[in-house]
Amino acid sequence: MRTLPTDYLLIGAGGLVGAALRSALAGRSFTATAHERAVPGAVTIDVTDSAALRALIRAVRPRAIIVAAAAAWVERCEREPDATRAVNVTPVRIATEEAEALGATVVVFSSEYVFDGGLGRSYDESDLPAPLNEYGRQKVELERIAASREAHLICRTSGVFGPEGARKNFVLSLVDTLRTGRPYTVPSDQLITPTYAPALAESVLALLDRGASGTFHTSGPQVVNRFDFAREIADVFHLDAGLLQGRLTEELGLLTRRPLAAGLDASKLAGAVGPMPTARNGLLELLRREG
Ligand SMILES: NC(=O)c1ccc[n+]([C@@H]2O[C@H](COP(=O)([O-])OP(=O)(O)OC[C@H]3O[C@@H](n4cnc5c(N)ncnc54)[C@H](OP(=O)(O)O)[C@@H]3O)[C@@H](O)[C@H]2O)c1
Repeated sequence: MRTLPTDYLLIGAGGLVGAALRSALAGRSFTATAHERAVPGAVTIDVTDSAALRALIRAVRPRAIIVAAAAAWVERCEREPDATRAVNVTPVRIATEEAEALGATVVVFSSEYVFDGGLGRSYDESDLPAPLNEYGRQKVELERIAASREAHLICRTSGVFGPEGARKNFVLSLVDTLRTGRPYTVPSDQLITPTYAPALAESVLALLDRGASGTFHTSGPQVVNRFDFAREIADVFHLDAGLLQGRLTEELGLLTRRPLAAGLDASKLAGAVGPMPTARNGLLELLRREG
């Protein structure tokens, strides 16, 4: 593997968050990695290959290692805990160990699923994790590994949407379904904190630029009911909200328990680098980009 040193190493540039980070890093010195989905200019790596990951970090010698690669499908984590842990947890351990020698900052992504949703208000960074499922437990574990060094950022996020080649995020999958006139089932009893991916990426870089460390709720500024958000998507994209079918989460036949009310309070982020756009403004920006 022949790779030159750069300031940033972005691991997982082909995903929803990774692609937004790659765009935000334009103009800076960075190396990006891809996996199965091709990404122009990226180095291909499977993060479960620990030796290859170590070799890459040693070759790039970054100031910041941003880990956006993940097995982020909650149901798969429940079914395949070992295989998903190898993607979600072990690479963070490798990155953290290698960062120590380089004096680099490690950035990891976590989720509102570290919480059980039973607090009765939005969660801030001082609230204690209590995950209900394997995905949440893996997030708690990778947070603990990242936080073992001072130079780290734990970016907890939720309901991320934005431009995406795979068009699998909630907003684009809903838009694509409603455009074809088919009904779309939406849980009616879940709170989320919609987060516009390009704004998430800019916030992460702003935190790095300020030398911030610790845990941040890097999410949009509003906690909303997912069904209300679905109606807002239909409104912004001029689609038929009558095709939306609300269902209780327990009616969906899911394997995995989910926190129903784990909204994130992003006040700390707003104080540090300013708030992200509202859900509606993120949707309007996405509509503009979609053309
Ligand atoms: N999206 C959300 O709403 C949300 C909410 C809370 C937290 N998060 C967290 O944010 C982070 C990014 O999520 P995302 O939505 O961007 O996920 P994503 O779109 O599913 O992207 C995940 C990326 O990881 C890569 N990857 C998977 N297995 C890999 C492997 N073995 N080796 C190398 N790369 C591998 C994938 O590459 P290939 O596709 O090429 O395999 C893909 O580029 C995750 O930690 C996720 O848990 C996301």
